Amino acid sequence: MNVPETQLALLEAASATDEKTVAQLADELGEDPAAITRAAFELEEAGLVAVDERVAEDVTLTEEGRRYRESGLPELRLRAAALDAGADEDPVEMGQLIGEAELDGPEVDIALSNFARKGYGSIDGGTVTLSAEPRHDPDADPERGALDAVADEGAVSPADGVLDRLESRGLIERAETTVRSVTLTDDGVTALMEGVEAAETVSAVTPELLTSGEWESVEFTEYNVEAEAETVNGGKEHILRQTANRVKDVLVGMGFQEMEGPHADADFWINDCLFMPQDHPARTHWDRFALDVPPMEELPADLVERVESAHRDGVGSEGDGYHSPWSEDFARAVALRGHTTSLSMRYLSGHAVGELEPPQRYFSVEKVYRNDTLDPTHLLEFFQIEGWVMAEELSVRDLMGTFTEFYEQFGITDLEFKPHYNPYTEPSFELFGKHPETDELIEIGNSGIFREEVLSPLGVDCDVMAWGLALERLLMLMYGFEDIRDVHGTLCDLDLLRNVEVVY
Ligand code: PHE
Repeated sequence: MNVPETQLALLEAASATDEKTVAQLADELGEDPAAITRAAFELEEAGLVAVDERVAEDVTLTEEGRRYRESGLPELRLRAAALDAGADEDPVEMGQLIGEAELDGPEVDIALSNFARKGYGSIDGGTVTLSAEPRHDPDADPERGALDAVADEGAVSPADGVLDRLESRGLIERAETTVRSVTLTDDGVTALMEGVEAAETVSAVTPELLTSGEWESVEFTEYNVEAEAETVNGGKEHILRQTANRVKDVLVGMGFQEMEGPHADADFWINDCLFMPQDHPARTHWDRFALDVPPMEELPADLVERVESAHRDGVGSEGDGYHSPWSEDFARAVALRGHTTSLSMRYLSGHAVGELEPPQRYFSVEKVYRNDTLDPTHLLEFFQIEGWVMAEELSVRDLMGTFTEFYEQFGITDLEFKPHYNPYTEPSFELFGKHPETDELIEIGNSGIFREEVLSPLGVDCDVMAWGLALERLLMLMYGFEDIRDVHGTLCDLDLLRNVEVVY
């Protein structure tokens, strides 16, 4: 019988009476464990070995666990210092012991609470007294012993309560691994007795094999596509980026063109053009990330004049302004944009791509920055899906219809609309969608039809409906996660990011 080399080595190393683990065999044969696993499965299929699988617990020390193994558990150091200072006779000042035990920062609390828990003594009025009858012998502290056992042996029986304690103290980490062991079957023994030889196996057909005719006699390596393989987590596109790209595709499919523009922009484009009074709360330093850079010089003078006039006197014969201060200096000051409606202003004014004639549809999927308080649904930056439609005649029905069509592409069909107020749109609507896990209605966007006070200075004399939707909230509805920090930043849910697919 001929088998590939690794299989032969494995057959010869395996025993009919003693199980050997893949790790042991790999070690013995100087082979890669993955290669041994593969060979074992192939031999199992040929009936020559039996492969037994067991789930085992892999226990390792954390960085803190390793540190305490070196320096001693904080409570044991406290106890040793107390013993040295004679606390078995009389109470000793805690401050003195902390210094002598070289306890630092959080170690102090760790020492005190575990010292008390283990009954090593009592802590009263800032002094420590050692107990004559501790719950167990401090020289044979079970947690200390378990730290050693974990470090020396790697694996310890999982039922051990001491391990639970070490785990809750953050001193060890446990992970499940599959341990495979191999034994020779009767057929394996028979085959070995009859004689097994190594077959050259070839993993690819080469021109040489073909021209020499050798391909007819060589043995090709077989692939076992069913064998369990190690998980390889390669790099992949973040689901936020995947979804952003999908949003772009959907909007392009609906006839929209993409807008581009600066993340740091003049307040003029971010707020003044939107008829946001300069004393509006959103424009204070509480909400806005002001930048310490020179003011923006290049603003269209005639537009600045018309915007100022809208703020001061309103638009049209019936118009009324804000009667609040308006300064060009503030308009030119540069900040991180709090919404991408700044881009809509640049495009609608003709400043970005020249005068636009209706009908037009534009969008962007870009970052915006807000000085919010961090919580499960708010970050300091997020992606906004900005969009607008310019046409002779638009109504709220057009707005609702557009959203319905857009969100349907993502499987979201139960939108709700709530009347809202924006200084720049009338009417205005907030959009809500139902969270698939909690059934809670969550706000997913804000929208409306631009007011005369916005459009007239921009020189637009037809209707424009517009919106800003949160990309992260769309993701929440699609994937059911509840905390935006699952997809952003250092607390993100790696399993979610690795395994979720954005399906078309
Ligand atoms: N700028 C608004 C926001 O950030 C969204 C919006 C854009 C609303 C355009 C109406 C019109 O919430």
